[in-house]
Amino acid sequence: MSVSIKSEHEIELMREAGRILAIVHDEMAKIIRPGVSTMDINRRGEDVIRSFKCIPSFLNYNGYPAAICISVNDEVVHGIPSKKRILQEGDIVSLDAGVIYQGYQSDSARTHAVGEISAEDRRLIDITKQSFFEGIKYARAGNHLFDISKTIQNFVEDNGYSVVRDLVGHGIGRKLHEEPQVPNFKPIGRGMKLRAGMTLAIEPMVNAGAYDVWVLEDDWTVVTKDSTKSAHYENTVLITEGEPELLSYNKDLV
Ligand code: MF3
Ligand code: CO
Repeated sequence: MSVSIKSEHEIELMREAGRILAIVHDEMAKIIRPGVSTMDINRRGEDVIRSFKCIPSFLNYNGYPAAICISVNDEVVHGIPSKKRILQEGDIVSLDAGVIYQGYQSDSARTHAVGEISAEDRRLIDITKQSFFEGIKYARAGNHLFDISKTIQNFVEDNGYSVVRDLVGHGIGRKLHEEPQVPNFKPIGRGMKLRAGMTLAIEPMVNAGAYDVWVLEDDWTVVTKDSTKSAHYENTVLITEGEPELLSYNKDLV
């Protein structure tokens, strides 16, 4: 399958999916504090998704057993919510969520502090978010895909961190994962030319230490090999002839 260019009608549905998803994240963020379990956060997220008559796209995706991916500290992505996993003061927690609205997807992730966190961990979260905003400066028609990738990588590495290689962003639309893959590091070449109407989930995963990761025995949870912390930031982005439109981002929410 090749890269799809969305029609104005499809974009309208993806805007609504993204608008709802921003609210889902905001509502989950409100309950984060020491003592809350990752299952509590999953439940809140799923309830809000369903309150908008949306479908949680991750639930049952390749057998994934929950609505939200919740990854704590050295967990990079795809952490499985559990009522036994209680957040502690000083943790960082990454929430990755996806919704389907009238057949169209939106996907986004945020990393939050639990109570007071160290200055180093705050910086990891902030650099990860900033790397996304640096990268999307190049997300416009006529540029090449890896202009985004290279910019994210350079920004992260200039700040002393590493970008995960084994997981990448992706096209998104009717399906959660469409072409093209969107790496957060620069492969050989320039990548495809960006065109107006492409929709991409751009999602830097940034480790405080080395970029190497592995998967736990549960077959889902991705952790850093060196046990350093990791942060994640993602939005669903519409490519236009000018500034990109951030479909899952609301500047007044998280
Ligand atoms: N947000 C993830 C991504 O961008 C998807 C989570 S995997 C799932 O690929 F299995 F949980 F859905
Ligand atoms: Co994604």
